Amino acid sequence: MRNLVLGIESSCDDTAAALVDANGAVMASVKVAQTEVHRPYGGVYPELASRAHVAEILPALHQTLLTAEVSVEQIRAIGVTRGPGLIGPLLVGLNTAAGLGLGWNLPVIGVNHLRGHLRSADLELARVKYPAIILLVSGGHTILAHMESQTAIRLLGTTRDDSVGEAYDKVGRMLGLGYPGGPAVDRLAKTGEPCIRFPRPMLDSGLEFSFSGLKSAVSRYLDNESDPSHEDVAASFVQAVLDLLMAKCRRALAENPSVSLVIVGGVAASPQIRAAASELCHELEVELCLPPLRWATDNAAMIALATWDYIRLDQWPRPIPDVRLSLIDY
Ligand code: KG4
Ligand code: ZN
Repeated sequence: MRNLVLGIESSCDDTAAALVDANGAVMASVKVAQTEVHRPYGGVYPELASRAHVAEILPALHQTLLTAEVSVEQIRAIGVTRGPGLIGPLLVGLNTAAGLGLGWNLPVIGVNHLRGHLRSADLELARVKYPAIILLVSGGHTILAHMESQTAIRLLGTTRDDSVGEAYDKVGRMLGLGYPGGPAVDRLAKTGEPCIRFPRPMLDSGLEFSFSGLKSAVSRYLDNESDPSHEDVAASFVQAVLDLLMAKCRRALAENPSVSLVIVGGVAASPQIRAAASELCHELEVELCLPPLRWATDNAAMIALATWDYIRLDQWPRPIPDVRLSLIDY
């Protein structure tokens, strides 16, 4: 029986493949991270990312099929990230999917990476109580969405400039903390006081985000102070991020009837963000859903799950030339 979707993800710096059934059960999920490739550059180096995807994508697929112990006859469709993302890395995944689709005579469905993230909390088991507010905070994205159900998604706001993860990474670099900066900034912040009043752009208006002003303020502060306390800078930066994220979540929950708040993306690993969200949800009597980090960060299982949505919505099969054309949407 053809009851599995093969998901492929290669939009940034993780090469991933997964096999997922219609209920979101994960038969196998393989992810090859490129952190060490990009570490010397303090951020993702697109050309090297593309080359690493070329090297890793077939081994990742092979490993996925071996782990799940399934044959090609059990695969119903191939879902592949079509964007947004880095064009070179995306093309590696898309062309691999197109080749497999032709070879195995399977439909290939181009999936929006963000839809994958928004659905990731329901992998393995249906964790999300709908209607829900979803906050996606990663290195590439900062997005607030309302989900009436698994497939009724409404975008509420996104960032006008940098993503939260980018701001963490840049501040980490300014403080000499290496790459990725997020976890190190969090750790340092715990040893400092949030006594520096950095700006909180767009705090009081709407559901859009902006982080570049905050990032520049940290840079200016470090340039102007003769002996700045790095601990206090980290703590004050984290406090500004928390204030911004929680204010937007509070507003989104107030304006859109919701029974839960879901936080996904790599930045959701932050203990400070988890604690602040837990406090907010307790106060508003809303359920907080924090899926395991293996699903909250980039992975191919979320792409496969979103592919099932397209199948259920009867938006398939998408012919392969359409997948190619849809890249220019981003
Ligand atoms: O979702 P993700 O793993 O990858 C993509 O963006 O595609 O997110 C990575 C981002 C990086 O910017 C990293 O610094 C940040 O998540 N991050 C954190 C923490 N752990 C990872 N940011 C804040 N606190 C953390 N503990
Ligand atoms: Zn992502």
